[in-house]
Amino acid sequence: MSIKFNLIAAACENMGIGKNNDLPWRLKSEMAYFTKMTSTTTDSRKKNVVIMGRKTWDSIPPKFKPLSDRINFVLSKSQLDLNQYKDVYGFTSWKEIQDRLNDNKFKDVYEIVWVVGGSRIYKEAMESKYFYRLYLTEIKKEFDCDTFFPKLGANLKQISDPDVPEEVQKEKGIEFQYKVYENNEYKEE
Ligand SMILES: NC(=O)c1ccc[n+]([C@@H]2O[C@H](COP(=O)([O-])OP(=O)(O)OC[C@H]3O[C@@H](n4cnc5c(N)ncnc54)[C@H](OP(=O)(O)O)[C@@H]3O)[C@@H](O)[C@H]2O)c1
Repeated sequence: MSIKFNLIAAACENMGIGKNNDLPWRLKSEMAYFTKMTSTTTDSRKKNVVIMGRKTWDSIPPKFKPLSDRINFVLSKSQLDLNQYKDVYGFTSWKEIQDRLNDNKFKDVYEIVWVVGGSRIYKEAMESKYFYRLYLTEIKKEFDCDTFFPKLGANLKQISDPDVPEEVQKEKGIEFQYKVYENNEYKEE
């Protein structure tokens, strides 16, 4: 089975995703959707992998660290000391991540690979041959942001996923919609 990267992100109208190394909004139901999508497996013996950049890792409040019931991969140019955490691994390059995901022993323990940000991680994942789908929550409001989702390419086609509600959601007066895009250049190896 070849590697597939599923990206998951929430972006507002100006494609902002973050401000001061935090989320610009607090949407509990959107966060619950993120947790459900990234945690659910069909095989209960397996967990999903979540790949994130070091700044996104730093942005997670200590009580939510690591993202539970998921295998956390953190990318940094530095060797991070993550020994205190269970199911958390540091990587210094995408090549190291690719090697781990292709490792025969590790293949037995994970199911879906979710790329969970931030900006540079999304960009690099979308440029990779493993980029399969983008699960994008489109927040129908503009927020002040300093971090942005990369431009969507023409290779992306909107699709339906039975696990994703299509109707517009609303919380605290803010409307948002879960969208799914597939990379039509993705090829199974
Ligand atoms: N709305 C959303 O869905 C969403 C999702 C995730 C994050 N966010 C927000 O986004 C912001 C954080 O994102 P960000 O774009 O600033 O940072 P980021 O992508 O989370 O982290 C960037 C860091 O990742 C490491 N890195 C990136 N590419 C690498 C590579 N090829 N090899 C090795 N290391 C690599 C580097 O770490 P070192 O500097 O340690 O070398 C780099 O400084 C926060 O505001 C967060 O709340 C929003």
